[in-house]
Amino acid sequence: MKELEIDRCRIVFSDTGFKALDDYLKEIAPSTSKTIILCDDITHELCLPRFTERLENLDPQYEIIEIPHGEENKNIETCTQIWEALSDIGADRHSLIINLGGGVICDMGGYAASCYMRGIRFINVPTTLLSQVDASVGGKTGVDLGVLKNIVGLFTLPEMVLVSGVFLSTLPESEILSGFAEMIKHGLIRSRSHWQELSSSSEFDIETLERVIYDSVHIKYDVVLEDPREKNIRKSLNFGHTIGHAIESFLMKTDRAISHGHAVAIGMVCECYLSGDECGLSGDFIVAFKEYIRGLYPVVDIKEEDIEPIIEIMSHDKKNSSRGINFSLLKDIGDVSINHYIEPEKIKEAILYYTRV
Ligand SMILES: NC(=O)c1ccc[n+]([C@@H]2O[C@H](COP(=O)([O-])OP(=O)(O)OC[C@H]3O[C@@H](n4cnc5c(N)ncnc54)[C@H](O)[C@@H]3O)[C@@H](O)[C@H]2O)c1
Repeated sequence: MKELEIDRCRIVFSDTGFKALDDYLKEIAPSTSKTIILCDDITHELCLPRFTERLENLDPQYEIIEIPHGEENKNIETCTQIWEALSDIGADRHSLIINLGGGVICDMGGYAASCYMRGIRFINVPTTLLSQVDASVGGKTGVDLGVLKNIVGLFTLPEMVLVSGVFLSTLPESEILSGFAEMIKHGLIRSRSHWQELSSSSEFDIETLERVIYDSVHIKYDVVLEDPREKNIRKSLNFGHTIGHAIESFLMKTDRAISHGHAVAIGMVCECYLSGDECGLSGDFIVAFKEYIRGLYPVVDIKEEDIEPIIEIMSHDKKNSSRGINFSLLKDIGDVSINHYIEPEKIKEAILYYTRV
């Protein structure tokens, strides 16, 4: 059975994962006062039926808290609504929250559960590819503060995470591509063979998809296990994110908003460019990777005048220190190097590199 464990948080997969979750629900039933499922309007409609029909031991009296979908709702106001709903339902310290949704639901639900009554048990059931391969491991929970993403939050672990391909068939192509970028990143920072498998095909049957998802989760798991509190090697997971996050935040305020993974894909192109000068990443690979990403994801129009405000957003990134803007870069495929501080002028060059045909 494919299963990973980190600090007593079990990450279970596919059909055997459903069985493990079902067994767990049976085991904790005597000590559980209420089960609450947190979802958004979309996962309520598309994922909840697929979830409940596969579980025999889910409390039939479960309550649902539904919030509107979208990153714009990942904030402290929505958390307050969740806490009010929990209180109205009569949730107590023996209650269980199941977060059924993408990264927004898992991040915010985990945070809400960890603060409510100083922390109640929660389970994450990520339903997007992005949340399965990325938000499923590592214990980061939290909410955004205006355009500053994930700036309020906690490290805290669910009891269990269920990763299953059954949810993915309703996911729009753009959301699949969003998660795919994080998988590409996992290959680039840690595993040449994972990168090769992903980049050699654009379509996977469900069985292969579940296997490559497992491989990708395993890469993140290995990194987090080595450095749970992001003191050193966990920073390697930020490859593509320093520039990617800033582009995502900037475009969110315009009519050119793009998904998280799409922004990370662009960020990886720019950060490969930086990796050439800083770490000796091969020029041929930098060019080929840009072509690959520009072929896989719609090309985004980033104007020269956008770059200064994008760099300004970067300067607020949590990973920076007084030494400047911090990057994780590549020496080679599967070989990452952390803590590179790069000048704004060079960052501008890297963003312009993405925009040039
Ligand atoms: N905690 C972490 O380590 C971590 C890692 C990566 C990303 N994140 C966070 O995750 C968020 C992005 O995650 P996301 O892309 O999953 O966002 P999301 O939760 O907003 O989901 C994207 C969209 O897909 C819909 N959706 C979810 N499951 C679906 C399904 N099975 N079928 C059809 N539609 C479905 C959602 O309703 C939403 O509209 C960001 O807030 C990011 O900060 C957290």
